[in-house]
Amino acid sequence: LASTEVDISKIAPGQAIKTVWRKQPVFVRNLTPQEIVEANKVDVSSLRDPQSLAERTKPGKENWLITLGVCTHLGCVPLGVAAGENRGEYGGYFCPCHGSHYDTAARIRKGPAPTNLVVPEYEFTSDTVVTIG
Ligand code: FES
Repeated sequence: LASTEVDISKIAPGQAIKTVWRKQPVFVRNLTPQEIVEANKVDVSSLRDPQSLAERTKPGKENWLITLGVCTHLGCVPLGVAAGENRGEYGGYFCPCHGSHYDTAARIRKGPAPTNLVVPEYEFTSDTVVTIG
């Protein structure tokens, strides 16, 4: 199975990049401390697709949010990677196709998407390299 290596050394807190894995967009985001706080203060049981930030990241690396960049409604690519793009009402990602709002853990919070952005298989192969797949 094909995997993709991503150099994360130049992604500053608050920034994200879009890469490609198996022809699908993947978002790699370095959360700020404030974004982590926002994600952790949500009552998980109140969510449409209940998952904590810890369940969606690796231990000790909670700032690295790695998800497919594919809206779980009908597959558009959400906005929120590039600086200044609309990140929606919950500060994560926003899908403009039909208005799905994802939070700073890329969990669905408002709009038609049924589930959170998918977290692919990945591992940290060093402090600066993530291997997806
Ligand atoms: Fe994203 Fe419909 S495809 S809201």
